Amino acid sequence: MTQLPSPVGASRTALPESSAWLRRAGQRIPGGTSTIAKTPARLIEGVSPLCAVRAAGSRFVDVDGHEWLDCEMAMGTTPWGHARGEVVQAIIRQATLGSSFSTPHHSELELADLLLARFPHFESLRFLKSGADAMNAAVRIARAATGRHRVITTEYHGAADWSVAGKYHASGAQRLGLTPRALDETVHVPVGDHSRLLDAVSGDIAAVVICPNNWSPGQVAAVRQRATSQGAVLIFDEITSGMRIGRQATAGRYGIWPDLLCISKGLTNGLPLSVVLGSRTLVEKTLGAQITSAHATEAVSVAAAIACEGLLAAAPHWPSWEDSAQRLIGTARDRLAGAGLHDTVAVTGDYASFALATRAWPDFWTDPVREALVRSFAQESIFTKGYIVLSDAHTEADIERIEHALVASIELAANQNHHQRQD
Ligand SMILES: Cc1ncc(COP(=O)(O)O)c(C=O)c1O
Repeated sequence: MTQLPSPVGASRTALPESSAWLRRAGQRIPGGTSTIAKTPARLIEGVSPLCAVRAAGSRFVDVDGHEWLDCEMAMGTTPWGHARGEVVQAIIRQATLGSSFSTPHHSELELADLLLARFPHFESLRFLKSGADAMNAAVRIARAATGRHRVITTEYHGAADWSVAGKYHASGAQRLGLTPRALDETVHVPVGDHSRLLDAVSGDIAAVVICPNNWSPGQVAAVRQRATSQGAVLIFDEITSGMRIGRQATAGRYGIWPDLLCISKGLTNGLPLSVVLGSRTLVEKTLGAQITSAHATEAVSVAAAIACEGLLAAAPHWPSWEDSAQRLIGTARDRLAGAGLHDTVAVTGDYASFALATRAWPDFWTDPVREALVRSFAQESIFTKGYIVLSDAHTEADIERIEHALVASIELAANQNHHQRQD
């Protein structure tokens, strides 16, 4: 196995306020945060910032007062850059006009029209708050429409019972706080096992849930065909990829449409809002299924989403960082090949989000290549948890800085590999 070296930079050897914050937060909030993706366990104490204070554009400042070039952009939720002016103005304007109402607010229909114009394949939609809310609504629509119970999952689709039962079934029902029945009703087929996925779509399946960006167009087309032939509802989980792959998500790039499309991250540049889109017949099932949330339609997030739709309509190309990300991916691949590491370390993902990973390493979070990359980037005051997520706010100078850090990481890896072979 090749390990990238782990230089803790002289400029970044200690972040005392981050450490103090971790001690205090860990006492009150188990895990130190309520969002697993932000958990300090995925970071490195003394190397990574553990707690942010403010952000603008492609930068954020941590509790120790250090400025970081952000290569994660709040798990991809802020594609327009932190505190983007047009969105901030829309948020302030709406907050001063009232943030929530006892009746529907006129902006709900404005946003619905904008989204249905962007996704003309669909007739209707429903707003919710989290990605899990939207995914859970989609599965309940599928169950209501088909009268079937069983669901096929392919990765993490949010914190709903059926999703957790799939991804984490090995933990067992009690530890997960689920009923054994929840485990029985979910069939989990990990990404990549396409023939098993097709076999699993039988006549008793209510819904097939896939993140289409993690499958090839040919594979997705085959799943589309199989779901239709078996009477199952095909749900695209584009909670994360929806705003990052293109204007019409992966569905539009592939030209393959699901029965229900779920999008969320990036719709509002960081505020909570999710959407389920589908045919009128399907989305209407939310009424009988009693799918609702008091905050689903609060007007501040809706205003932020309308501002983001305006930015998207004006953008000449989306995502605007696609070419920069492709360049970084190309550089990483070339350098890995040049250093003889091609068989050991892969560049995974695409322009929406990519990472370096040891081939066949079972778990991303324990991969020493990930840890070493986090350390190498931290030395240059670049924040990553191991994958690189860009935004509209990343400048050419930012991209050059990231490229430099990537190249340096790979060169160090090559040196270490060379020394290991000599030992
Ligand atoms: C592919 C995918 N689906 C669903 C979710 C759930 O979204 P949320 O955390 O907003 O509930 C996530 C969250 O990371 C995700 O990555």
